[in-house]
Amino acid sequence: MTRAAVIAGVGGFVPPRVVTNSELAQRLETSDAWIRTRTGIAQRHVVDPGTTTSDLAVEAGRRALKNSGADGADLVVMATTTPDRPCPATAPTVATRIGLSNAAAFDVAAVCSGFLYALQAGAAAITAGFAERVLVIGAETFSTLLNPEDRTTVPIFGDGAGAVVLRPGEREEPGAIRDVHLGSDGGMADLMTVRGGGAEQRSHGGVPSQDDQYFRMSGKAVFFAAVRRMTESSRTVLARTGWQVADVDRLVAHQANTRIIHAVAEQLGLPPDRAVMNIDRVGNTSAASIPLALVDGMAEGTLKAGDRVLFTAFGGGATWGAATLTWPDLSLT
Ligand code: UT7
Repeated sequence: MTRAAVIAGVGGFVPPRVVTNSELAQRLETSDAWIRTRTGIAQRHVVDPGTTTSDLAVEAGRRALKNSGADGADLVVMATTTPDRPCPATAPTVATRIGLSNAAAFDVAAVCSGFLYALQAGAAAITAGFAERVLVIGAETFSTLLNPEDRTTVPIFGDGAGAVVLRPGEREEPGAIRDVHLGSDGGMADLMTVRGGGAEQRSHGGVPSQDDQYFRMSGKAVFFAAVRRMTESSRTVLARTGWQVADVDRLVAHQANTRIIHAVAEQLGLPPDRAVMNIDRVGNTSAASIPLALVDGMAEGTLKAGDRVLFTAFGGGATWGAATLTWPDLSLT
């Protein structure tokens, strides 16, 4: 029998400070009405100075492990666009702080698709027999990457972390990762980028401008690419699984924009109310987005044991992906 990777627990954490649209409108040329109608976001959580991505990841990781009943993990895969430092990776710090000393640990950089890439890496480690318990974390302090005066990015992104624990099991059991599809197009690298701080900028010499250190996004182009790629990837993974669109009970899409999620649902032929939504409260939390939506969906009862679930995401790179599974019977503490 083929060994499968099964979700055994989930956990999430958002920093306590809430920033409402109205608060942003006091310092940026924007309005609560614009942000709500164009994105679906009403508020986001933002870290206080001194709090880093690993702080959020440790909290989410601990909660996922506790909820899974596992007393440890031998692999930590962490998706983030905002590592604590450019070098080394943040996953070993997180593993050690959680008490998973000597566990294998590495970061995955796929921006808003990061959780799906990390999930696939973790699941593959289980199916290959390389690991017995994997902690997959998506964690971001995106607020640290934004130009505080940029109204095209600041209202969109929020900080947070979400995690799942994977264990070995059987492909047909609830919680088993059924199929995953991942893709990328480096020709779209400039659509979402931080130009400075990397080898490219250093090899050209010179000091990066302040602006080069901030995340920039061509929102409109990203919007259309996100709808197209998430729809295509979803169709691919559904075909691999042997599910019809009508079989999908819940769409858990990267919470980038309510209009993007509804457009993907519409193109797939899914009623929009099948989408699990928490973007109104947390904004776009990049790699943390899908696991945070899982936690909120479970807490609100919009995601239940036995639901056939479709994940999909699109992010910088460009990267994208989709995955299928039947939601298991899990508890949250
Ligand atoms: O996580 C994966 C990657 N990210 C995404 O998937 C995000 C994808 N993109 C989007 O969600 C949307 O493109 C945005 C929400 C970022 C922007 O919405 P849009 O409907 O595409 O607006 P736009 O960029 O076309 O801008 C429309 C207008 C512009 O003004 P003019 O040129 O028409 O006069 C912008 O300058 O809205 C203006 N604008 C704003 N106005 C008020 C842009 N940002 C704001 C703002 N408040 N915050």
